[in-house]
Amino acid sequence: MNAAGPERYRWHAVPDEPSLRQAAYEAILAGAARAIHERGQFHLVLAGGSTPRGVYHALGAAKTDWSSWHIYFGDERCLPPGDSARNSRMAAAVWLDCVPIPPLQVHAIPGELGALQAARMYAETLHAVGDFDLVLLGLGEDGHTASLFPGHEWGTAPGAPDTLAVFDAPKPPPQRVSLSAARLSRARQVVFLVSGESKHTAVGAWRAGKDIPARAIMPAAGVDVLVESALLAPLDV
Ligand code: 6PG
Repeated sequence: MNAAGPERYRWHAVPDEPSLRQAAYEAILAGAARAIHERGQFHLVLAGGSTPRGVYHALGAAKTDWSSWHIYFGDERCLPPGDSARNSRMAAAVWLDCVPIPPLQVHAIPGELGALQAARMYAETLHAVGDFDLVLLGLGEDGHTASLFPGHEWGTAPGAPDTLAVFDAPKPPPQRVSLSAARLSRARQVVFLVSGESKHTAVGAWRAGKDIPARAIMPAAGVDVLVESALLAPLDV
């Protein structure tokens, strides 16, 4: 078992997707209130994919000091800016375009430039940013998170680049940009949102200590995993 042993993971079992959404909503607003109280700013990294969509939508009606929020993306798909499959477009459509976060504080990954250029530019954006207050992450069926895929570089080593250009991603589109595991781990809190039977095997592998990308995320404070309780049941092998 590596340094991130079981105690580094706090598994929060919830009965279903609506409860997961509610728990995530509360965790994000609590993280925002704490960061704004302590430092006057809240630096939040968004997960892509479909699981967080409902949470983002709910945040559109939240009461908070939006002027103190700073938004980043854990990964992006290299598609045109207006493409609805872009993680930044998804978040904007259901939430960010509906609340008064200053536009200069929403830092989309310029995926339209191609993985290499976009990764380079986003690394410059992150250069001036310290530890994130909260990082949200999803989990793929193969154990990937952000755009860190099995068999690809995850950027775990000290001194690893903040961003990685990803080619031949097994989940379309093939070209993506991801924050590295090391950069995603520079966070006061990391919360995974895991929902859907298709993730059962990956959760099992994770808890069995298998070397999947999700295990490469190792913030000092440990990791919180919001997960549907059915996915914690032993797999019928
Ligand atoms: C992406 C995501 C990816 C996602 C997982 C889970 O751009 O595809 O960042 O890491 O979080 O694949 O996706 P779902 O939530 O759609 O199951």
